[in-house]
Amino acid sequence: MKRITTILLFFRMIFVFLSAQAQVSQTPLNIDLSAKGADIQPTMWGLFFEDINFAADGGLYAEKLKNYSFEFENPMMGWNRVEEGGANGYTYAMNYAVTTGPNKKYMQLQRLNSEGVMGLQNSGFRGIGLLEGETYRLTFRARRVSGDSQLSAQLIGQEMAVLGSAVLKQLTGEWSEYELSIACSGTAPNARFRLLIEGEGKIDVDMVSLFPYSTWKDRKRGLRRDIVQLLADMQPGFLRFPGGCIVEGFDLENRYQWKKTIGDMAGREVRINRWNTEFGHRPTPDYYQSFGIGFFEYFQLAEDIGAAPLPILSCGLACQFNSGEMVQMGDDLEPYIQDAVDLIEFANSPANTQWGAVRAEMGHPEPFNLRFIGVGNENWGPQYIERAKAFADVIKAQYPDVTIISTSGPFPEGKEFDYLWGELKKMNAEIIDEHYYRPPQWFRENASRYDKYDRSGPKVFAGEYAAQSVFTVSPDNQNNWNCALAEAAFMTGLERNADVVHMASYAPLLAHVDAWQWKPDMIWFDNLSAFGTPNYYVQKMFSTNRGSYVVPVTQANNPLAGQEDLFASAAVDIATDELIVKIVNTSPVGRTVNISLAGKYKLASRGTLIEMASDNAEDVNSIAEPKKIAPKQREFVPGKKNLLIDLKGQSFVVAKIKIQ
Ligand code: AHR
Repeated sequence: MKRITTILLFFRMIFVFLSAQAQVSQTPLNIDLSAKGADIQPTMWGLFFEDINFAADGGLYAEKLKNYSFEFENPMMGWNRVEEGGANGYTYAMNYAVTTGPNKKYMQLQRLNSEGVMGLQNSGFRGIGLLEGETYRLTFRARRVSGDSQLSAQLIGQEMAVLGSAVLKQLTGEWSEYELSIACSGTAPNARFRLLIEGEGKIDVDMVSLFPYSTWKDRKRGLRRDIVQLLADMQPGFLRFPGGCIVEGFDLENRYQWKKTIGDMAGREVRINRWNTEFGHRPTPDYYQSFGIGFFEYFQLAEDIGAAPLPILSCGLACQFNSGEMVQMGDDLEPYIQDAVDLIEFANSPANTQWGAVRAEMGHPEPFNLRFIGVGNENWGPQYIERAKAFADVIKAQYPDVTIISTSGPFPEGKEFDYLWGELKKMNAEIIDEHYYRPPQWFRENASRYDKYDRSGPKVFAGEYAAQSVFTVSPDNQNNWNCALAEAAFMTGLERNADVVHMASYAPLLAHVDAWQWKPDMIWFDNLSAFGTPNYYVQKMFSTNRGSYVVPVTQANNPLAGQEDLFASAAVDIATDELIVKIVNTSPVGRTVNISLAGKYKLASRGTLIEMASDNAEDVNSIAEPKKIAPKQREFVPGKKNLLIDLKGQSFVVAKIKIQ
């Protein structure tokens, strides 16, 4: 008897536990499969790239050495002189006496004896990440000035262990390019590189560069394979580049100028990165731009990952949070507009045009198929409108098929936002870029933001958004599950309004764990590995389950946008004949939703459910636990005319099922 009571008690406890976990939603949901809604643009979910947080140099760009060409203001930044074991010598920063390009500085090594070890050491970008079994390609320019000394190179791991080395056999008196391979015998997250002078004499060196052979698509001077893979896995609809505020510059001199970022590396002028000095709380004096990733490489990356390229250019207004420097209208603005027109030619025109020839010369005779161009980043006021009009007049006259993206400024509401939208509507602007760095609550509350937008006005590019767990740009912000879930809730509203919203991207994209300026960010990396945040996986779940057109999900004839803490959108994918339902439950309590399906169709006997969930809204991913919060997939069995879906507390679910 006692045993039966215990068993009954046990089952009762399970029942109470399960009821708490899965409350049946009060009102059933409906999807009408015959009510075909807006087409979802192939560009709907994309990527926003900016060189912030060491995203390019020290990140995506696989170069291991910082200040490779000694062009930083302090030519020794990133480098140390090595003089050990009785060695005696000097290093001198030199200027080319006659220079034809922006690569003005080089380094002279002088050795006065043959004892010990003498040369230069580079510490990379907060250390150098080396992998056991990997081979590294060392390239440099050098010439012998006097004596008969030679150069050698070493990879130095922990406790000064030499993990690899190479010797240059023949150095001549003329500047020449050299290339050596260095096999690495150990993994080290924080290694050093040494370029050593052997024997008495003087040698000049420049453009000392170390790359793994294994890069994305194994390109020479290529991109980090692991980071690009994370981007490619998202199947992004577009790649916006190169920013962000970096486009505008602190002042106009410092704006991003695409023509200075293409061609041979020696011709790409190294510049101070605007995020070097931007935040007093995160000073990064060693943050420069080598432009190893320049506009050609951005276009190439977009092509590689199947994304439409979306370059954004300065409109002649420097960052209005900084100097706000403004070029005068008329002749002074003309070169800025010409840059935009030339960029379209560079991307799209045949190799027999001036800029098409430059692209072909760089190895891409086929066009890059540019269809979008952004004019200005977060600019505002009548000054912006005047300049945007001048750009639009010229671009549209020459390239009517290229769609122009205009900006609504840095904030998603307020006087400036309303002014810009009003003026841009009068201009018949095509797509307007909106930015929202707001608390998670704002995202939940704005899931119906676009339900009320004018259907006949300009389209929307939700160009930069991220929920801020503490406050905007707080260094304590976290990429936690609470923020990612709020973004998912908001994104159902973007998808539901796909007739208005044509593009969306989380921002910023990348951050080095030891060298960031801005938090939160979608993908984090150190010198050896990279991981996606919960926000990344939310983006990926939307992007890889996009669908072709929207079908309405309703509760009592209203879109589901927060009732009972539930948010939903649905789409049909005509390529796979699938219904794709996205549901977000922001409540900590689990529930079951019962979705009735109207329309003529036959449901498959099984569907796929992709789920992200955590009881702990503070959960984050990390280098140590890169997939603590990540999607999990399982099968589900539908009803005849309905889907019964169990939602855990604080969960985001994508349910997919074939319909015929
Ligand atoms: O994404 C970081 C910055 O946020 C961008 O550079 C700017 O456009 C926005 O203010």
